Amino acid sequence: MPVSFEVNGNNRSLKLDTRTTLLDALREHLHLTGTKKGCDHGQCGACTVIVNGERINSCLSLALQHQGDSITTIEGLGTPEKLHPMQAAFVKHDGYQCGYCTPGQICSAVSVLKEIERGVPSHVQADITGNAQPTNIEMRERMSGNICRCGAYSNIAEAMAEVAGAQA
Ligand code: FES
Ligand code: FES
Repeated sequence: MPVSFEVNGNNRSLKLDTRTTLLDALREHLHLTGTKKGCDHGQCGACTVIVNGERINSCLSLALQHQGDSITTIEGLGTPEKLHPMQAAFVKHDGYQCGYCTPGQICSAVSVLKEIERGVPSHVQADITGNAQPTNIEMRERMSGNICRCGAYSNIAEAMAEVAGAQA
């Protein structure tokens, strides 16, 4: 089946087996290998990308569901010469070790700060009226779907706190 969507600002058209996941379309068909395959079962977050402003696990989504969507992968957030502020903060705070989970962590982290700004609720939110703050516990809860085998969690939280502070 044919499908067209925008990836990192470029229109891309593909002909895919209907069973192809968005993750495999990105990695195997568009050769955007920044997005990682960890579990392929929606449990690790390594495949997180941003679709129409929302983070999703791309391994749990069929590519054909994304006709006309706008998709941002780690390659679209920044470049080595011009890092996204969250990428720069991960480098500064050593928010990774092996780096396998990192593209998903960064896509998630960028979205988490936007979710907090928009008042999307979480299970640990103190203020149920929707006034979430980017506290350490709030960010850790919202990042709980992104697993890091290297245990870089504290440094990831520090990187996010810095970006959240810069945005405040
Ligand atoms: Fe998608 Fe693990 S590869 S959640
Ligand atoms: Fe190795 Fe997170 S940096 S899994």
